[in-house]
Amino acid sequence: MVCLGNICRSPLAHGILENKLQDSNYVIDSAGTAAYHIGELPDHRSIKVARNNGIDITSQRARQFKINDFDIFDRIYAMDESNLDNLKTLARDEEDLNKLHLFMDANPNSVYNHIPDPYYGGFEGFEEVFDLVDETCDLITKEIQSIT
Ligand code: 4NP
Repeated sequence: MVCLGNICRSPLAHGILENKLQDSNYVIDSAGTAAYHIGELPDHRSIKVARNNGIDITSQRARQFKINDFDIFDRIYAMDESNLDNLKTLARDEEDLNKLHLFMDANPNSVYNHIPDPYYGGFEGFEEVFDLVDETCDLITKEIQSIT
C-alpha cells in the first residue's frame, strides 16, 4: 500500500487489509513515495480513526518505497494517480510495471477513483478515508480468497 507520506492513507490500508486477510501466506506492508516522514508513527488522526474501528496501527513506522519492493511484493497499490505516476517512474521493466495498481480500481462501483489526501483537512476526512479503504480492502480480501 503506497501513498505520499506513509503516515495517513497507506498505514490505514496496511492495517485494515492485515486485519481482514489474516493469512500467514501473505505479507502486507506500506510505504510512501516521499521521504518527509521516514521513521514517524502514523498521523495521530489515522491512529485515532483506526482505533475507533478496533485496529491498532501504532506498531507501524513510515518508510520510503524502495526499488527492492518490486522484488518482494506481487501487488503494489497506489492510493492516488500521483503516487501511481511516481511509482511508474521507478519501475525497471514490464514486470515491475505490471505489479502497479491504482487501489480504487479494485472497487470499480465506487464514485471515487482515488483515496483523497486527508492531511490538510479535518478528522472527518480521515473517517471518509477509513470507510473508502475499508470497503476496498473488503473487495481485495474476497478476490484474494477466491484465488487461493
Ligand atoms: P499520506 O498523506 O500521503 O496519506 O501519508 C500526506 C502526508 C504528509 C504530507 C502529505 C500527504 N506532507 O506533505 O507532508
